[in-house]
Amino acid sequence: MTRPRLSRKPALVRLLSVAAVFSIILIAIQSSFFTGSWTPVNLDIPILSHFQSNLQQCVANRGLGLTAHIIDHCNVILKFPQGTNSTWYNEQFKIFEPLEYKYDVCEAILLWEQYRNMTTVLTREYLDSRPDGWFDYAAKRIAQLGADKCYNQTLCEEHLNLTLPAKPPFHPRQFRRCAVVGNSGDLLKTQFGEEIDSHDAVIRDNEAPVNEKYAKHVGLKRDFRLVVRGAAGNMIKILNGSDDEVLIIKSVIHRDFNAMIKKIRNPVYLFQGIVLRRGAKGTGMKSIELALSMCDIVDIYGFTVDPGYTEWTRYFSTPRKGHNPLQGRAYYQLLECLGVIRIHSPMRAKRKQDWSDVPSQEMISNAHRAALRLKKKQAGEEGGLGQFVNCKVWGKSGPYGTGPVSGSTDMTDTRKDSNYNRWEIMPFESLRKEARKHYMQMEGVSLYKMDGNKLDDLVCVKHPLKSEA
Ligand SMILES: *[C@@H]1O[C@H](CO)[C@@H](O)[C@H](O)[C@H]1NC(C)=O
Ligand SMILES: *[C@@H]1O[C@H](CO)[C@@H](O)[C@H](O)[C@H]1NC(C)=O
Ligand SMILES: *[C@@H]1O[C@H](CO)[C@@H](O)[C@H](O)[C@H]1NC(C)=O
Ligand SMILES: *[C@@H]1O[C@H](CO)[C@@H](O)[C@H](O)[C@H]1NC(C)=O
Ligand SMILES: *[C@@H]1O[C@H](CO)[C@@H](O)[C@H](O)[C@H]1NC(C)=O
Repeated sequence: MTRPRLSRKPALVRLLSVAAVFSIILIAIQSSFFTGSWTPVNLDIPILSHFQSNLQQCVANRGLGLTAHIIDHCNVILKFPQGTNSTWYNEQFKIFEPLEYKYDVCEAILLWEQYRNMTTVLTREYLDSRPDGWFDYAAKRIAQLGADKCYNQTLCEEHLNLTLPAKPPFHPRQFRRCAVVGNSGDLLKTQFGEEIDSHDAVIRDNEAPVNEKYAKHVGLKRDFRLVVRGAAGNMIKILNGSDDEVLIIKSVIHRDFNAMIKKIRNPVYLFQGIVLRRGAKGTGMKSIELALSMCDIVDIYGFTVDPGYTEWTRYFSTPRKGHNPLQGRAYYQLLECLGVIRIHSPMRAKRKQDWSDVPSQEMISNAHRAALRLKKKQAGEEGGLGQFVNCKVWGKSGPYGTGPVSGSTDMTDTRKDSNYNRWEIMPFESLRKEARKHYMQMEGVSLYKMDGNKLDDLVCVKHPLKSEA
């Protein structure tokens, strides 16, 4: 195995690339000055190319042997070193996992920067605004309905009401630092417990236990748990022990869960934006989507992202067979170098916490704007690059939405003991400065995904600014 490259980024390389970009910019300005056709669009490609070379350097520094090969201002290939042990045999396609992965960085920036502004909890205002929201989409979130559409909305409301807040319970930028804790057995090789607990919010997965036995490895703080239905028995076990955290269900709800949920103090919500009725590929990605929709900084722990894994391990039980570790590892590395996540793992545990080679938020914003302009130009669309450019459907919410934000009215007694008042629909003036600023900049609009993983079509719901203040 190659030795991880831990060297700091050579200052000279950085200087040279900055100089190169400046000269390109100068030339672009000069030439367009003389031809009289100057538009900012001329600079988009140099901005993105500069971003790419930064990304390449970041991967070289942090990728533990991965290298980035630039194809053009948007496309890049991440390569594992020759001889990487690809023991993962894909039964379906009869191939070993490839050692190279191609990415469209422009698309990736557009996608993941958008998540910072999204609402990822399913709400009543979303179903009310979305075309056929109740009839079509609501039905997909209910098991045991006996129909594929909500022919009887009252019946569907009965199923969903417990998990359906009137409006978003959490805000973008609500937390500064969040930890997303996966289940990997590599957590037992480190003692990240205290570090994890120092975050403003901790997001965990499925049945991953939190107790004294594992405290020094995974911490004790419990805030959010993203759960997938899986075995119903499992879900009931999770629901039964979950008075300390908000549960966010990634799959479907049904009557049996509802009976349990009724007894739970803390809120239980449905995740908005799952890819319905498809493979559960990338469950970790959903945790990251959730985290980005509430947090500025997303630290990930216990995701099997470093070399040397031959099976999926879990810190609390025996390993099981999994798939595609190389593909996942490359993608997580890309995300780290796009400034989306920060990876913590045994192979990086002793490294100085130095994030200077990850692009700054300003640089990411510039690259985001450039990628957006390029995309619109290629699609032949003019203007309209504001934050609502992807809003295809608009909805309106009452001053406080319609109905309770958590549970149903008959649950008022159970939920009044919830310790979630500290976060859930916080009064506007108690929100972090960054969250308030964002809310004003967004003019009180919440953005929701319309479908699957596409973020070109959003459902946007406007909240009155005054009522919040
Ligand atoms: C690759 O992994 C397999 C299974 O773990 C192991 O038997 C083999 O020795 C490994 N090969 C190399 C070159 O590390
Ligand atoms: C719709 O569902 C509700 C609640 O289950 C039920 O009371 C009502 O009779 C149903 N309406 C029709 C038209 O089936
Ligand atoms: C839920 O937890 C309680 C107390 O720990 C236990 O007595 C009960 O059997 C559990 N219920 C289920 C359905 O697991
Ligand atoms: C569901 O909740 C909404 C909002 O509180 C309420 O208006 C509606 O009557 C409820 N529906 C049912 C079937 O309980
Ligand atoms: C996200 O929100 C910020 C305001 O906080 C806004 O400036 C930016 O344009 C938005 N970006 C997207 C992709 O929606």
